[in-house]
Amino acid sequence: MSKIIIAIDGPAAAGKGTLARKLAAHYDFAYLDTGSLYRAVALTLILSGKPDPSESEAEDAANNLNPAILTDSELRAEATGKLASRVATMQKVRDALKIFQIDFANNPPEGQQGAVLDGRDIGTVICPDAPCKIYVTATDQVRAKRRWMELSARGDERPFNDILQDLIARDRQDQQRAAAPLKPAKDAYRLDTSDLSPEAVLKKAIEIVDSRIK
Ligand code: C5P
Repeated sequence: MSKIIIAIDGPAAAGKGTLARKLAAHYDFAYLDTGSLYRAVALTLILSGKPDPSESEAEDAANNLNPAILTDSELRAEATGKLASRVATMQKVRDALKIFQIDFANNPPEGQQGAVLDGRDIGTVICPDAPCKIYVTATDQVRAKRRWMELSARGDERPFNDILQDLIARDRQDQQRAAAPLKPAKDAYRLDTSDLSPEAVLKKAIEIVDSRIK
């Protein structure tokens, strides 16, 4: 029987990960944070002394990912996110990560009935036929505040304005790249989380999913 796929896309720090994780728990579906794959490629390159990789070096890293890197504490670091956004512009890197994501969605690892994937191109490229797509957004200020809080909790005390500018630059790069640019799928429900608590976001998302899969 085909699996139920929930595709969550949106810009950085819009609340996609928190929502996707909670949705997966609610429906007992598998969860994949696809941004962590691009971060894993970036961190592999940083750790192997290639902070400015060519496309073939990045492709090679994507084809030879060591799953252990996904638990490295530097995966969420700002420098890793920045390089992740750069390697994500490379078509060969995207191609190398694509099959794994499609396979995860269609064959969840523990045989679950469905999967929730969050990223930038899930509803447009990875799972264009997903019955349920949500494009999560929030204002730049709100997203930068969330990222600032996340970084402070890691002991990274960068000024708010630097974080805001980096976020805007990263979104621009994600939206303007030729390969799988960040954009809402035509049939995605747009959910602005700026003024909503995480609980309210989850409630709304469950309503959306229920209405699309039942
Ligand atoms: O979501 P996160 O910030 O961890 O993602 C890091 C970077 O990976 C993003 O800025 C984006 O460039 C890239 N990415 C992507 N496609 C995805 C998920 C992430 O291009 N599906």
